[in-house]
Amino acid sequence: VSLKNFNTFGIDADARYFVEISHAEELTELFADPQWLQTERLVLGGGSNMLLVNNFDGLVIRMNIRGIEHRINHDEVFVEAGAGEVWNDLVNYCVSHGYAGIENLSLIPGSVGASPIQNIGAYGVELKDVFESCEAFEIASGTFRTFDQAACKFGYRESVFKAELAGKYIIVAVKFRLSLTPDINIKYGAIEQELANRNINKPTIADISQVVSHIRVSKLPDPSTIGNAGSFFKNPVITMEQFKSVQEKHPDIVNYPADDGLVKLAAGWLIEQCDWKGKVVGHTGTWKNQALVLVNHGGADGEEVYSLSSQIIDSVYTKFGVTLQREVNIIGLSN
Ligand code: EPU
Repeated sequence: VSLKNFNTFGIDADARYFVEISHAEELTELFADPQWLQTERLVLGGGSNMLLVNNFDGLVIRMNIRGIEHRINHDEVFVEAGAGEVWNDLVNYCVSHGYAGIENLSLIPGSVGASPIQNIGAYGVELKDVFESCEAFEIASGTFRTFDQAACKFGYRESVFKAELAGKYIIVAVKFRLSLTPDINIKYGAIEQELANRNINKPTIADISQVVSHIRVSKLPDPSTIGNAGSFFKNPVITMEQFKSVQEKHPDIVNYPADDGLVKLAAGWLIEQCDWKGKVVGHTGTWKNQALVLVNHGGADGEEVYSLSSQIIDSVYTKFGVTLQREVNIIGLSN
């Protein structure tokens, strides 16, 4: 089965086996056959945060569980969505019903089920800010378990599902705690500026959603025309001591305070300083408006993109002594 239409990078790789799951119980049926317990597996939502560097010699499980339900309790709204719902459809549903909390996360590609795995975030809001719980299938035992906020161990683009429980659970539904009384978040400078441009003083969540969508469209390539997986690297987080020494040589380095007295650097800035921004290398390259995004200009294979990412890591390390970590999941790398 070709995975070309199942990954936003548009990489043409094949999967040996492929199954689509539309109801949680189908997972129980699937894994009743012990063959699949022993087969390498790849769980796929929107395929928007991965790079396929090879054909996948195992079972691809495409999550297609749909459905959005809500329950209102005073001014709180609990919204539960199936893992296979498109993330931005959920955002639109919530914004149109006046359920506040995820409007800053408008237009993020991918599925609801994938959203807790890397604790998606943008424009001053992270998934963990509105996460109530998720329901997941434990492959080994064939049972379902609820994970609350603490059990997920969220960090910057991190969770337990990427760390110690990687590959062990399949998320089938996610519940969000939203609000009927919006707490508008315009901390992010670009939002404030765009609101001012539009003469909006008292933004609604619909305004925020529109402004964020506008900013994203202007900066980030649309995966339906130019293959990409959003930010390819994480923004590196370094110690204050390390930061001071880098800043001495590069006084204009873009930085933000992070937790525990650490400092977060803008990977896009570091990459641009190494002259990679907008560069085309074979079928791949970095995006002209956001150097943190690697793109497939058409016909790239995963290895070509991966090799470009290695070159970028090397040049950023050489210039700044900082090691970029890939944020995108790399699938099928032989080592
Ligand atoms: N910058 C450059 N050159 C570039 C890109 C960025 O100098 O080519 C500078 C910008 O001028 C700005 C700073 O870097 O001062 C930050 O840039 P931006 O606001 O575009 O955000 P980012 O840190 O590059 C992160 C997330 C994005 C998210 C945006 C907005 C990560 C890895 N990326 O990018 O998330 O949309 O903030 O909140 O944390 C994703 O994870 O896939 C993703 C797109």
